[in-house]
Amino acid sequence: MREETGRPATEAGMTAETEEPAAAGAFPRAFRAELTRLFRLRRDVRHFREDPVPPALLDRCLGAFASAPSVGLSEPWRILSVASPEARQKALANFTASNRAALAGYSGEKARLYASLKLSGMREAPVQLAVFCDETTAKGAGLGATTMPEMRRYSVVAGIMAFWLMARAKGLGVGWVSILDPERLARDLAVDENWRLVAYLCIGWPKAWEERPELEKVGWEERNPALARPITR
Ligand SMILES: Cc1cc2nc3c(=O)[nH]c(=O)nc-3n(C[C@H](O)[C@H](O)[C@H](O)COP(=O)(O)O)c2cc1C
Repeated sequence: MREETGRPATEAGMTAETEEPAAAGAFPRAFRAELTRLFRLRRDVRHFREDPVPPALLDRCLGAFASAPSVGLSEPWRILSVASPEARQKALANFTASNRAALAGYSGEKARLYASLKLSGMREAPVQLAVFCDETTAKGAGLGATTMPEMRRYSVVAGIMAFWLMARAKGLGVGWVSILDPERLARDLAVDENWRLVAYLCIGWPKAWEERPELEKVGWEERNPALARPITR
């Protein structure tokens, strides 16, 4: 099957719809093709327009968290809207300092390239969410998390992924910022001491939708679909 760009679906490391046998409970082929396209065209967005996002639209995207898997059904995601100018300013100052420190870890051509990257949309994005994990939630009664507490954080990532795809399906861009001092951010936002930062998300209307990751376009790194193949023992 060829998609609208002329690239075969398998190029992104996914099986072409026509190669799949029909299975009980499967979604229709046309839907599956669109889902594949959604996965392929989801992008990390850093270039946002500044016009607002309707609150009801954001709410519907956030609803994706409520259907995400979580260890023991603990739903440990805690989502904080970073909305006030003071909170935004503190988060931006955190990013600026962390990014400067990260740049200092590179040298030569990599440093030059790193310095040219736009690694957050925090100056422009109309919606900004700090997503935390409640490390001590009683919900789920510790099932699964007693043996592997980190599973709570992975559950939060699963929720973020569902939100990211839902937002993309509605034409909203999401950018994940990780160049932050998480403890400083938690302090500045005065969150519960048991919450750990998992993601800082910038959300809004993208200036443009790109077919390829920005880091590929500028020559920082490339996708390698072979990494999605299992190693057999
Ligand atoms: C956990 C995580 C943290 C990330 N942190 C950043 C970040 O701090 N700044 C940034 O520009 N992109 C960040 N990204 C986005 C990745 O660079 C991006 O997903 C990758 O280059 C592939 O591009 P794509 O998402 O457009 O397919 C992050 C992505 C993930 C999953």
